[in-house]
Amino acid sequence: MKIKQKIYFNDYFDYYRYFSFLIDKERNESIKKIWDEIRKTNPEDREKSGRAILNLKTKEIKRIVGGRYEISFYKDYILENEINVGDLVILSEDPNKFFYEGVCSYKDRTKIKVILDKKPPENFLNKNLRVDLFCNDITFERAKKALSLLFFKREICKILLGKGKPEFRNENIEIKNSYLNSSQKEVVKKTLLAKNFFLVQGPPGTGKTTTIAGSIYEHVKRGYKVLATADSNIAVDNLVEALLRYDIKVVRIGHPAKVLKSILNNTLDFILEKTSEFNEIKIIWQEIERLKDINKSLNIDYKNLKNIETFIKNKKEIKKLKKLVRKLEKRAIRKIIKRADVVCATNSGAGSDILNEFYFDVVFIDEANQSQEPVTLIPLTKGRKFIMAGDQNQLPPTVVCEKISPFLSLSLFERLIKIYGEKILGFLNIQYRMPDDILNFSNENFYNSKIISAKEAKKRNLKNILEEEKIEILKNLNDEINFILNPQKTICFIDVDSKEEKFQNATSYFNFKEINIIKEIVENIKKLGIESKSIGIISPYKDQVKILKETIKDDIEIKTIDGFQGREKDIIIISFTRANDKNIIGFLDDFRRLNVALTRAKRKLIVIGNSKTLKSNSLYKKLLDYFKEKNSYIYLGR
Ligand SMILES: Nc1ncnc2c1ncn2[C@@H]1O[C@H](COP(=O)(O)OP(=O)(O)O)[C@@H](O)[C@H]1O
Ligand SMILES: [Mg+2]
Repeated sequence: MKIKQKIYFNDYFDYYRYFSFLIDKERNESIKKIWDEIRKTNPEDREKSGRAILNLKTKEIKRIVGGRYEISFYKDYILENEINVGDLVILSEDPNKFFYEGVCSYKDRTKIKVILDKKPPENFLNKNLRVDLFCNDITFERAKKALSLLFFKREICKILLGKGKPEFRNENIEIKNSYLNSSQKEVVKKTLLAKNFFLVQGPPGTGKTTTIAGSIYEHVKRGYKVLATADSNIAVDNLVEALLRYDIKVVRIGHPAKVLKSILNNTLDFILEKTSEFNEIKIIWQEIERLKDINKSLNIDYKNLKNIETFIKNKKEIKKLKKLVRKLEKRAIRKIIKRADVVCATNSGAGSDILNEFYFDVVFIDEANQSQEPVTLIPLTKGRKFIMAGDQNQLPPTVVCEKISPFLSLSLFERLIKIYGEKILGFLNIQYRMPDDILNFSNENFYNSKIISAKEAKKRNLKNILEEEKIEILKNLNDEINFILNPQKTICFIDVDSKEEKFQNATSYFNFKEINIIKEIVENIKKLGIESKSIGIISPYKDQVKILKETIKDDIEIKTIDGFQGREKDIIIISFTRANDKNIIGFLDDFRRLNVALTRAKRKLIVIGNSKTLKSNSLYKKLLDYFKEKNSYIYLGR
């Protein structure tokens, strides 16, 4: 099938065919890619690439809330890897044979914990096991289901086809909220007056999340039931945090292992434990365990008919009790969700069974520029009206299948702006994160200089958080470091003559010279008494990130640009990594990627790159000129 990118659709069936095709393609490609990788790569190489941990021994099995099991594995030394808390993993002796799917719930240098829905048998756990990073198939399934459901959602469907009519109530309302500035309040007002849908656009740090949290509060106050989602767990948690300042009932649905500690009290599992029904549930689970243990200890053979009889009786009882406990759990959960003012989940999580019979008056989607359109349908089909927040100048959704990438990487957020334009768009223009030097390159090049900085952002630099004596230390460091870390200046470009490298068959790059310079800078930053949690290191390239982590050995957050979207730190160091004679800069040339990278720092932005390679691209040449103009450029000729 040959397809063209579509902005408008003729009817529901046209829409269905287009997205159904794209979902299938993307799903097949994602699963194929990951299984290919798991099966074809030899295990040691996969471990070296950070996508598997081999030779794990079982240490402990623990039953946890929700009837799940947490299994701890240990190993003398776990290599640096990409498996993080919350990731879907495969647990197996050999993934080509038999495996369990689980979620990683803890990881350090010698231990990893995995949560499984079922308890694996002892003889499996006694083996030499491995954990492999996996991908999530259920999201595609839910997106497909939502696509079918859309047929019955006439109003929303019309809007998505490009045939909708934005409607607003004509009413005079005043928003009182001391957390919001006047343009944010104005946007909240519009979201309230909108009858069917509205979008909130804002550059980094302008308070999109803060504003939709304010809007959610106003909707709840008026008696509406709200579903609030975002693509990633971290984005959902940020939104939950912003909601916690209001006196409303917020329930976060999702795996507790994937949730920030600060919002654990709002997770469904936690609330469930506090209900009156939970005691009964707990007692029944204990009884089930007891019967299982008895059955395990029974000696069953044909001479011992009595034992067989007991065994069968217990089995029947276990089955009965399990049915009962599931019913009780379901009832308790229903009650919690029914009472909630706001239910929060990832876009995919909005399609989970526990929300099956629930519908909402308003659906809010944060960071909507990052979600694939079929995935946003999962929450959208659960509501009557929707509000989205995002920024089309930041990164679009990631698409695994290259062939369909141009179609699926157009988010619904961006498509709706193309169709309906300014009428449905509230723009936030006051940013609270960056001082002007950090902001202005992005402001001038990507936002037509429309962003204004709040007073508190303008004043930020390193000097205001350093003690006097540390500033003295800085004076004794060498001239180069002194220039780079000058606490009154907020930006610096370090130009290095370096060479990129890559591993065999890899598509990613690394650059040792940039890594060594970053190591030296970090050591000096630490001498100034700045904590690891205030520093972030970013490279566009996965392999550079991996080697940086191995070299810097600290709990500083080191991530790809895509992984840093939505986050901020006092100090950000960017390693552009690319350096070659052919002057190729690869996917750095997406201006949205550059924009996200440049707008993460609150006090100091240090950029390291090879100017010869970078300036072959006109945008990067402009960037270099910008740093030179600001007297914030240094060439390190080592
Ligand atoms: N009206 C405001 N007054 C003061 N600080 C604000 C205001 N709005 C947002 N902020 C702060 O600015 C930062 C970015 O806000 P956030 O809502 O996360 O922005 P975005 O979602 O657009 O990235 C946060 O630290 C937030 O507390
Ligand atoms: Mg946000």
